[in-house]
Amino acid sequence: MSVNVESAHDDAATIDVRPLSETIGAEIRDVDLSTELAPSTLDAVHRAWLDHSVVVLRNQHLEDADLVRFSKHFGELDFGPNMAWQPESDREHPEVFVISNVLENGKPIGFLGDTEVDWHTDLCHTVLPPKASTLHAREIPSDGSGNTGYMNMYALLEALPDDLRRRVDGLQLKHEDAHTLQGEVRFGLSEADLTDLENAPGPVHPLVRTHPETGRKCLYLGRQWNGEHRATFVMGMTRADSDALLDEIWAIARREESVWYHKWQVGDFVMWDNRCVMHRRGPFSSAMRRIMHRTQIRDTEKPV
Ligand code: SIN
Repeated sequence: MSVNVESAHDDAATIDVRPLSETIGAEIRDVDLSTELAPSTLDAVHRAWLDHSVVVLRNQHLEDADLVRFSKHFGELDFGPNMAWQPESDREHPEVFVISNVLENGKPIGFLGDTEVDWHTDLCHTVLPPKASTLHAREIPSDGSGNTGYMNMYALLEALPDDLRRRVDGLQLKHEDAHTLQGEVRFGLSEADLTDLENAPGPVHPLVRTHPETGRKCLYLGRQWNGEHRATFVMGMTRADSDALLDEIWAIARREESVWYHKWQVGDFVMWDNRCVMHRRGPFSSAMRRIMHRTQIRDTEKPV
C-alpha cells in the first residue's frame, strides 16, 4: 500500500493521514481520542476532515464522555432522541444517539434496527442540518456486514455532464420533512396531504451549495424515495420536470463512482462532513448485534 503522510496547515501538528480511496475518506493514525488533545493536533484532525470529508480512527477505546468531549471541539452537539419507553433521566449523556438493532428485555436500545438505510444526508429536512456526524463502533456483526458507504458530493457535482451542471446551478430544493428516514409519515399527516411537494412542510436548501469552510461547491441532494412519493422537489418546476431532473442526478449518484465503504471493526471512530457527504448503510442480519454510539455536531449557518 502506498503511504501518503500529509502535513497539515502551518499552525497544526503533523499527523499521519492516509487516504482510503481516490476521492473520499482518510485514516488518521496514532491519535488517541480518549485523551485531551493539544489544540495543534485538533487543528490537524480538523484539516484532515475538511480535506477528505470523512476521517477514520481505529481502535479507539471511548467512553461516552470521551465521545462527547472530542465532538464538542467541533461545535455544539444536538441531543439524541431517547427511546419512547426510556425516562430522560436514564441518560447520562443526552448528546449520544444509540444506533442499534439490539433488544434488551424485549425493548430496542437504539434506533434504526436492522434496516438497510438508503443514501441520505442527515437531517437535510431541517432548517439547520448538522455539519458533522460521528459514529463509534461498540459491537459489529462478525460476518463483516452492515458497512457504511460515504459519497463525495463535490465529486458528484463535477461528474455531472456540462449541460446538467448548468441546469442545476441556482436551483432550490424543497426537503419535505413529514416522512421519517424509514418512510413513515409524521405530524398526523397522510400521504394525501403530501402530494403537493412545493407546499409540503419542510425547508428549502440550494441544490448546489458552497461549503462554508472549504469554499468548494457540491451537490446537496438530501434523500430520495423510490416509487410515487419523492422526498425533494425543485422549487418552481412542474412535478414531472422536478422528478425527471432529480432522477437524472440520482441515476449518476447511484453509479457510486465517488464512494467508499467503511468496513467496521470494534473501536472504529468515524466522523463525516454532512455538508459535502451522503451516506448509506448496507444490510446485515437481524441475528447479529450491531451497536454504534453517535453524536451530531450543529452547524451555525444554513446551507447557501
Ligand atoms: C445512518 O446514519 O444512516 C446509520 C449509519 C450506520 O448505522 O452505519
